Amino acid sequence: MNFPGINYKQGILHFSDVSIKEMVQNYKTPLYVYSEDVILQRIDSYKKGIQNYPFMLCYSVKANSNLSIINIMAREGLGADIVSGGELFRCIKANMPTERIVFSGVGKTQEEIEFALKNNILLFSVESIAELKRINQIAHSLQKVAPVIIRINPDIDPKTHPYISTGLKENKFGISSNLFTEVIEFALSLKNIELLGFGYHIGSQIIDISSKMEAAEKSKYFIDIFQKYKAMSFFDIGGGLGIKYKNEQPTEPQEFIHTIANVLPMDKLKNCKILLEPGRSIIGPAGIFLTKILYVKKNYHKLFYIVDGAMNDLIRPTLYQAYHEILPIFEKNDFDQVVDIVGPICETGDFFARERKLPLLQENDYLAILTSGAYGFVMSSQYNSRPRSAEVLIKQNKELKLIRERETYEDLIQKEIQYL
Ligand code: LLP
Repeated sequence: MNFPGINYKQGILHFSDVSIKEMVQNYKTPLYVYSEDVILQRIDSYKKGIQNYPFMLCYSVKANSNLSIINIMAREGLGADIVSGGELFRCIKANMPTERIVFSGVGKTQEEIEFALKNNILLFSVESIAELKRINQIAHSLQKVAPVIIRINPDIDPKTHPYISTGLKENKFGISSNLFTEVIEFALSLKNIELLGFGYHIGSQIIDISSKMEAAEKSKYFIDIFQKYKAMSFFDIGGGLGIKYKNEQPTEPQEFIHTIANVLPMDKLKNCKILLEPGRSIIGPAGIFLTKILYVKKNYHKLFYIVDGAMNDLIRPTLYQAYHEILPIFEKNDFDQVVDIVGPICETGDFFARERKLPLLQENDYLAILTSGAYGFVMSSQYNSRPRSAEVLIKQNKELKLIRERETYEDLIQKEIQYL
């Protein structure tokens, strides 16, 4: 097995030394639970890696944007990688210093750019010439100078799921690298833009890091071009380090940083901050999703565990055919049933696992869906008018802290009722 913080003690599944039975009794299901210990271990691996290098860690807020989670990152000295005004708002509320925030994304709106400029963020990662013009105009009207890096599209295959590959020619992200000099010259000609460097992000859940090495190798050429114009202050190599969901053997952050630092021309980047934007590799292993079996049903030859969580809570299995390990909270030895674990939503795509081997379980048994800390709650919706689940944090002192209340039926209609 071997997932951080997960083990059975006296026959009961524990996460970070706290009994999951206690969690479901106190907070009901469906429920997200995060472990501060595991978050800190993951951050620590990054911090150990960057010790002797000029790297800066910007947590990718999209992976999990709960205020308490962002606040842990801020407290630990990390910055943030954001992709919307909403994420900036969350960062501000969670006491993340805005001077540590990088704003990426292909479709920044006028309002978002203004909001970010007024809050003096560290950098805009700019994804098109049109966006550069727009930022320049807005900065001019606010009498500000916008700090900018160019995101290039290096045309590299990260060998991951196609929906989360971002650095290929055919993807919408970044600026074609053959336009690099043109963009640099254009940016330098704009009065309200301060061009400070460039970067890329090639994809997510990258297990085979050779693609990341290839990107680093390729970037040497672009670093040389950039430095012909001016010294680089920032070089952003994105996020994307993969984690273990099943039996993958991902590179640990610390090892990844050493490996990449050996490829990058560190002598040329002496006075430059190298930004890393990890999301999943910090928060993914630090979260689990808990759900209760409502019914056990046999249809023809198939066995179904119908649970109270659904695709609206955790969409990864159906959206990306993602595998998440699933364990019963009471220890059993015989994983001798082949079952589909499905939710109550009226779609055949509403499943957490298909044809999975699990023990024979019953109504009111509980399941833990592991490695759900990243892109879990943040991608949840109210589809089928299902209130979103609660979120709980296991603090370092093992105290359980509610960090988001379970939504109610009233929450579902709040924005509509006054217009009826
Ligand atoms: N930086 C940029 C510019 C990004 O677009 C992303 C993720 C990251 C950093 C963080 O990547 P990470 O370290 O978390 O891999 N919902 C999908 C993942 C989408 C990732 C989008 N971009 C999933 O559940 O697999």
